[in-house]
Amino acid sequence: MIYQVSQQTATETQASCIVVTLDQSGKLSDTALQLDEASQGFISQRFEQGDISGKLAETLLLPAVSGITASRVLLVGTGKETLKPASAQKVLAAIANTTNRIGGDIALALTSLTTDVLTEAWLAEQTAIAYAAAQYRFTATKSSSDAEAKSPDTLIWLGDDVSAAFSKGAAIGTGISFAKELANMPPNICTPTWLAENAVTLTQDQALETTILDEDQLAEMGAGAFVSVSKGSTEPGKIIVMQYRGADDPTAAPHMILGKGITFDTGGISLKPGQKMDEMKYDMCGAASVLGTMKAILTLKPKINVLAIVTSAENMPAGNASKPGDVVTSLSGKTIEILNTDAEGRLVLCDALTYGIDNYQPASIVDIATLTGACMAALGEVNSGLFTTDEAMAEQLQAAAQYSNDKVWRLPLEEEYQDLIDSNFADIANIGGPLAGATTAACFLSRFTEGTPWAHLDIAGTAWVGGKAKGATGRPVSLLVNYLLNK
Ligand code: BES
Ligand code: MN
Ligand code: ZN
Repeated sequence: MIYQVSQQTATETQASCIVVTLDQSGKLSDTALQLDEASQGFISQRFEQGDISGKLAETLLLPAVSGITASRVLLVGTGKETLKPASAQKVLAAIANTTNRIGGDIALALTSLTTDVLTEAWLAEQTAIAYAAAQYRFTATKSSSDAEAKSPDTLIWLGDDVSAAFSKGAAIGTGISFAKELANMPPNICTPTWLAENAVTLTQDQALETTILDEDQLAEMGAGAFVSVSKGSTEPGKIIVMQYRGADDPTAAPHMILGKGITFDTGGISLKPGQKMDEMKYDMCGAASVLGTMKAILTLKPKINVLAIVTSAENMPAGNASKPGDVVTSLSGKTIEILNTDAEGRLVLCDALTYGIDNYQPASIVDIATLTGACMAALGEVNSGLFTTDEAMAEQLQAAAQYSNDKVWRLPLEEEYQDLIDSNFADIANIGGPLAGATTAACFLSRFTEGTPWAHLDIAGTAWVGGKAKGATGRPVSLLVNYLLNK
């Protein structure tokens, strides 16, 4: 799909479809009005005769409207209120889904949707993201894929030069789709080894160094927390390290992003109940978001250094699996009492934090993990949990979340919670009892950050949706890309 911008008027545009909007009071956008005049009132009559009510994201496709050069007109409702990011995204999703089926050259006359917050560039960026989402299908493990979704040949933005925004949105959209694809892949295919292969494929031919640490190396190194999770599986665990150096000074301290990549979480000996256990293939969504973010970063090539780490293992019950009560020594030297083998994410993350800090001295760290059911219970599927004691990190992540509408909600990480993870038999326990479960998980991670500015995103509720539309969301790729681009 090619992205173009054009200053043509709506009435003279040659396209397979031109997209214009109206609101729920029947008010036509400026461009819709131009089409209305050119068609002797045909557009406004559609509202008057009740063919479209203008409800948010409602669509009406009109073929061959006389007086209009485009072959079709798509009318889209914008609802009652001034558009906000979330409602604008709904409008754009409806446009992308409808016009994808048409193909050809699609002209978008959407500049009247701009507000103080929703700039033309923002709308164009979100448009590109919406088209990527409309075009994503999971077909990898289906023997007969449904007819390939058509996509437009060209998207023509009628308005300002939004080319840079289109490029950014397309890169983010591709990153999101890549993250979805990795996450949706069944867990007999998506193993730590397979994730490592994907990282290598992603980064080859790029000015980017990739190092894969295998389980034996990690054991030798003393990453006892990581190995305590990985050892119960016949699939060898891996820590995948990707270094992108885009800054003028290639030795400048990198910004680190770290993803939890548990390719299946049975809970281990603290076995999970059977219901919906298949969804624990999504316990690598943090890793998927890191890889998706790197895919976008490799396209956009910002002038920053990024250290992207994926910490990947399978959490299985086995004769040699960790037991509740085991004490292990982490890479940092701190000992950990494993009171629940289902709190495995923090165990694979803590050694990766230590590895990253010791070897690369990052300027900042964000870890992304489907870490706790407690976070999901608190925030549902709308916001990811944000934990940090660093106000600057909080501000940067909240700003990126707001801009991308890939939302986060800050949850507490205060000193008073830290003694919930005290242990009688080790330096720390890996669980903190029934209260404040998302915070105690963050407290655990904070013990391994060595004063590096650090934030933790708990994406347990936001990384995938269950039910009929089961699938990965690709969150928080959009947030992470925006956060890194602002560095
Ligand atoms: N991967 C899970 C968290 C999770 C559960 C995410 C359900 C999304 C949906 C994590 O490894 C886990 O099992 N956490 C435990 C921690 C508890 C044992 C302290 C949890 O949340 O129950
Ligand atoms: Mn678990
Ligand atoms: Zn898990």
